[in-house]
Formats: sequence, structure tokens, C-alpha cells
Amino acid sequence: MKQNFARITGLGYYVPETVVTNHDLEKHMDTSDQWIRERSGIVTRRFYTEGKDTVSLMGARAAEVALSRAGLKPEDIDFIIFATLSPDYNFPGSGVLVQKHLPFRNIGALDVRTQCTGFVYGISIADQFIRTGMYKNILVIGAEIQTNIFEMSNRNRDFAVLFGDGAAAAVVQHTHDEHRRILSTHLHSDGHYAEDLMLEHPGSNLKDRMSSKIVEEGKHLPFMKGNAVFKHAVTRFPEVIMEALDANQLSIKDLNLLVPHQANLRISEHVQKTLGLSDEQVYNNIQKYGNTTAASIPLAFAEAWEEGRVKEGDLICLAAFGSGFTWASALLRW
Ligand code: UT7
Repeated sequence: MKQNFARITGLGYYVPETVVTNHDLEKHMDTSDQWIRERSGIVTRRFYTEGKDTVSLMGARAAEVALSRAGLKPEDIDFIIFATLSPDYNFPGSGVLVQKHLPFRNIGALDVRTQCTGFVYGISIADQFIRTGMYKNILVIGAEIQTNIFEMSNRNRDFAVLFGDGAAAAVVQHTHDEHRRILSTHLHSDGHYAEDLMLEHPGSNLKDRMSSKIVEEGKHLPFMKGNAVFKHAVTRFPEVIMEALDANQLSIKDLNLLVPHQANLRISEHVQKTLGLSDEQVYNNIQKYGNTTAASIPLAFAEAWEEGRVKEGDLICLAAFGSGFTWASALLRW
């Protein structure tokens, strides 16, 4: 009997229309265009519009593009995986809300909560469901509205300058092709660092989930030990990329394109240098969108595809590191 494999057959994205520059941010906090560009490479990011954009709606818009590029209709999808740290509601998840925007059948919908690695975790889950023969067509969405999580103020300026809003999606389909497929996925986490990059409240630990004290202390705002995240990221990225290549008896020279999670251009450049990758082998678009967390990899992957940087037979590595800490990679032959 032929073996089941999975491959990505369509990519799409949606970004909100409002472009916010570094100079715009200077008006709200002590920061500068120069500081932001030098430390992160970011020039602009998108801000969502209240009443027009929701996380599930943005995800649905991205999904429509991915579906049409895959030549499928929402009715053809067997399962929805929605990766986000900024769901529309505390519950239910945004995966089920996508079903209100597009005509899916009453299929299962799963939210993934691994932040920056959410899309790669989602691809891994989709790959496993398809390999076992349970499903044929799976939609994996990564979408975030983050520009209302942080405060446009000095106490949250490390976050406010880095993050943006956006959505992207991939259609993962069954194939018997042994060559052009998702080759392997590799998932990791270390919860000892959970508090180094987190948003604590409203959580379930306190009787008063939200209080004026929490707000005064800024505990409702995202917190990040930037330097610690940076240091772990530049170690874990190369590690998990090499793990994927080694697992398939491939090497850096075989890699046509690395699509790293867009956390910081300096992190991507560090990883590129450590692994000895050329500029042609790495795709970055953080300059335009900032860090869009779960949306960042599919957003970069979809743009790379639109720009003709992804060709038939190319070896592509998706790699991510972020809050948890979690880190992950997916190696695929396009
Ligand atoms: O998706 C994964 C999640 N996040 C990441 O991967 C982020 C990883 N970390 C980073 O990207 C970097 O650590 C940052 C971009 C967050 C910070 O860059 P850094 O070079 O590590 O700067 P720093 O935290 O060491 O801060 C340097 C200075 C500090 O001032 P002092 O103490 O030297 O006087 C900060 O207070 O820069 C100050 N600073 C700012 N200045 C202007 C911090 N944020 C800002 C800001 N504008 N927005």
C-alpha cells in the first residue's frame, strides 16, 4: 500500500491596512526610528482597525486566499488548526469562529497556544493527521491582533516597537508523492523559561482575575526579558534547523530557503551567519510587518512564494523560537 504524506498546496495572507511607522511610535514613547531599526530591523508594522478586523476574520481572509491557490473550497476542508496568542475571546477559541466566516462543514477546529511556534506546531499536527489517514485537507492559520495587548507608553516600549498585527494561512493536503512533501517536523519546549516572555493577567491563578492593582503594576501587559530571549533564540534556531536537516541526511548547502520566525532581524542575521547561509537562502520581511507571532512564518512564506522565491522541488525550512520557551522546525520539499 502507498504511504500517506502531506504537502502544503496553498499559502495566503491578510494584513490590516493601517501602516504605522517608527516615527509614529516616537510620538507616544521615548524611542527613535534609529533605535528600532538598529536593534530590530523593523521600519513599519500594521495596526488592526477595531470593528473591521478581528483575529478570526483576518484568519478567514488569509484562508480564502490559501484555499483558492490550492484550488479548494471551504467545504473541502476536513480540519481547522488555528494558532494564535490573541484569540477573539478567552474562550471559545478562534478556530471555531472561522467557521462563522466561511462555509466549512461541521469539522473539528483546534486552537494552538504555543505563540511564535504556533504555525510550525500546527503544520506538524496537520502532517500527523494526514499521515495516519484520518484527514485529507487541513487548514492551518496563524493570526494575531497584538497592538492592543501592549501599551503605547514608556513602560511597555520594548514590546510596543516590536510587534504588529497580521494573518496568514496554509492548506495542507494529502499526497502519495514521496519527494514533494513535508519531510519532517521537530517540536521542543522548556517551561522553566515560561515567565521570561509572558502575559500573566487575566489568568486563572488569582481570585480577582483583573483588578486596578494589576493594571497599576502593569501586570496586564506583556513582559519579556529581551536579552534572555535573544540569547536562547540564537542557540535554539540553528539547533532545530540542523536537527531537521540531519533527520533527513541533508545539509545546509541543500537548503534553498530558510523562513525563520520574524522576531528580530538581528536574530535572523545571527542564525544566517552561524549556519553559513547566503542572503538568497534566507527570507525576511520583519522590516514591513514587525513580529506578528503565530502569523509571522506563514506571512513570510506566502510573500516569498509570491516573489518567486519558492520553486518546485526547493528544500524549505520553517523555524521558530518564542514564548514558552518553545522552538520548532519543519522541513519540506516544495
Ligand atoms: O518572538 C519572540 C519574542 N521576542 C524576541 O525574540 C525578542 C528578543 N529580544 C530582542 O529582540 C532584543 O532583546 C530587544 C529588541 C527587545 C532589545 O534589544 P537589546 O539590544 O537587547 O536592548 P536592551 O534590552 O539591552 O536595551 C538597551 C537599552 C536600555 O537602556 P539602558 O538600560 O541601556 O539605558 C533599554 O531601556 O535600550 C532601552 N530601550 C529602548 N530604547 C528606545 C528598550 N526599549 C527601547 C525602545 N526605544 N523601544
